[in-house]
Amino acid sequence: MSDLKIFSNKLSVDNKRIIVRLDLNVPIKNSKIEDDTRIKVIEPFLNKLVKDNAKVILLSHLGRPKGKIVAELSMKPIFHYLKDKLINKIFFYQGKIDQKAIETSNNLKGGEVLLFENIRFFKEEEEDEENFAKNLAKLGDIFVNEAFSCSHRKQASIHKITKFINSYGGPLLNKEISSIDLLIKNKKKPISCIIGGSKISTKINVLINLIKSSDNLIVVGAMANNFIKYQNKNVGKSIVEAGVENIIEKINSLAIKSNCKLIIPIDCNASDNINGSSTYKSLDELNNEDIILDIGKNTINLISKTIDDSNTVFWNGPAGYYENKSFSKGTIAIAKKISENTKRKSLISIVGGGDTIAAIKNTGLENSFTHLSTAGGAFLECLEGRELPGIKVLRKN
Ligand code: 3PG
Repeated sequence: MSDLKIFSNKLSVDNKRIIVRLDLNVPIKNSKIEDDTRIKVIEPFLNKLVKDNAKVILLSHLGRPKGKIVAELSMKPIFHYLKDKLINKIFFYQGKIDQKAIETSNNLKGGEVLLFENIRFFKEEEEDEENFAKNLAKLGDIFVNEAFSCSHRKQASIHKITKFINSYGGPLLNKEISSIDLLIKNKKKPISCIIGGSKISTKINVLINLIKSSDNLIVVGAMANNFIKYQNKNVGKSIVEAGVENIIEKINSLAIKSNCKLIIPIDCNASDNINGSSTYKSLDELNNEDIILDIGKNTINLISKTIDDSNTVFWNGPAGYYENKSFSKGTIAIAKKISENTKRKSLISIVGGGDTIAAIKNTGLENSFTHLSTAGGAFLECLEGRELPGIKVLRKN
């Protein structure tokens, strides 16, 4: 990783236009930011650029608008947040990435910041389109990728832009890559991976790779419902994905072949609606109206025991519908156990993903893992051993 071009404080930014690609993809409800962790972590770098009299141009996506203007996915609430809490000399630009945008960035004064509207409102962003990237590059003199969590995306503001402008990785990106790289190299057996989330079909490659390299693979969250259903249990109205039986068979047989213990929930907490209260159920007690929304006490014990027997734990994705406090117990129990063992037994722990971070926010556990990554998909692709396209283009040659 040492051959990456990393932004250094020695680089003069005085009066220079610095484009910073951030991951400001934060949860927003009714124009209110629900979790600002991803903004908080980039504050020191932004403050430093402003203090050093740089002209700062901020690019980010929010959600998946698929090349269309979607009002709920506007960066406006983020603009107001930044203006109120961080930088008062900040402006918001909502037009196309054209000559006018370039002039606006040219007219910035040192210490001022220009935030652009959701970059995914342009279809050219996801297409990694050459001319669009060229225009983006014209907004600045230097480009800094400070969005490790987006670097698995081959998109214009992460990937193609680097072809047209002197480009660096930012301090947070550097910290994320170095920590993950170091931990992957130094991982000690037994290794356990805990994977949550809802869609098994989007994580199949990750799961297959993790099975090959781990001693235990623990599947939780809505994804686990597919495994429960595969055992001919009634999962009622729980989220399941259609047509994934082949994937489950493949995972089951690979786990046996690779000597990896596959652990799925053995009991649960359910309700007949996601905002309801929690009822403990064994998997045989579920009825047609039930929705599985968290792991049960026996599953928590099983996972805790597995963590106790591990020397390395990777965790991505909550164990249940944590947005309703009645169903956050499984996730919090996992977080507590990993945190405890990291402190007391030198467990190597990497915890990642926007949802996981949101789920353990305000528990006081946030700083008690070996590494807490803001990244979800990018983190998992690193675990798979893949080089991320947004990182590859930051190499020195
Ligand atoms: C994330 O939330 O993991 C990043 O912002 C990437 O978002 P994406 O999966 O929509 O590319």
